[in-house]
Amino acid sequence: MATKIKDNFATWINGSLADCSMGPEKAEPCRRLILLGPPGVGKGTQSQLLSEHIGACHLSTGDVFREAVRPSGCPRTPAMEAALDYMNRGQLVPDETVWELVRERSNCLHCQGGFLLDGFPRTLYQAEALNQFMQDENLLLSAVVNYQLPMSEIIWRLSGRRICRECKAVFHLTQRPPKTQGRCDLCNGELYQRGDDHPESISVRLEVYENSTAPLIYYYKHKGLLLSVDAHGTPEDIFKRTLTALEQRQPSPQ
Ligand code: AP5
Repeated sequence: MATKIKDNFATWINGSLADCSMGPEKAEPCRRLILLGPPGVGKGTQSQLLSEHIGACHLSTGDVFREAVRPSGCPRTPAMEAALDYMNRGQLVPDETVWELVRERSNCLHCQGGFLLDGFPRTLYQAEALNQFMQDENLLLSAVVNYQLPMSEIIWRLSGRRICRECKAVFHLTQRPPKTQGRCDLCNGELYQRGDDHPESISVRLEVYENSTAPLIYYYKHKGLLLSVDAHGTPEDIFKRTLTALEQRQPSPQ
């Protein structure tokens, strides 16, 4: 399973020129989902669990920016340099840069296995751009899952988070500690703490979320696509709640 996640990840990171090792496998049902919610609520963790279960690839815009820092990552254009500067301060990367980056990877949005978008869209501009693109390409969004959790719990989750440099698996120092300290359970890669998981950046990120991303809750509710899920409890509890919400969802007009 770790290999599958890694291969899909490479396709998303490298963009439309990369071969997709998953091939044209079709998932039934083909789910095209957006995961919404504040930083640290557990979108990445749920994406991993959902991806294994429903077969859709996890597409995170934050991952693309973080990969650009690595020597083997995607090209460091001037726009990408500026984007990384915004990210490390906890601020949003400008909409035009983000949309350009997603468009370059739009083959992933056409995947017959569906997709799990995490961290995108994050502003009304991005949501409108995605909406227009999907309409033009005759692609239907299945649902938008909105995870909800109090801020105190979110800060605890972010401060203890550690990530694998190789396969991007997510751990937590106390809630989900790795079996070997500092090493990934899946691929033995090195675990690290994200630059924007320090207290100064966390508070900026939470404020930016309230001002720019929270309005998307109403945007997708209005379209009849919103599924709200309580993000208390273990990742497995939340995963089960998410699956139940997806199964109970009645398709509605968009
Ligand atoms: P991005 O990478 O998208 O970060 P984020 O939205 O801030 O979300 P996180 O990855 O921090 O949290 P998460 O909800 O995935 O939580 P996780 O599962 O890891 O974006 C980073 C930056 O890039 C942005 O700030 C921005 O600058 C830029 N950017 C990206 N996309 C952009 C866009 N579209 N437009 C503009 N700028 C953009 O969990 C957190 C921790 O909690 C982990 O340690 C985990 O183990 C633990 N945990 C998870 N679930 C549980 C649980 N149930 N109980 C206890 N602990 C748990």
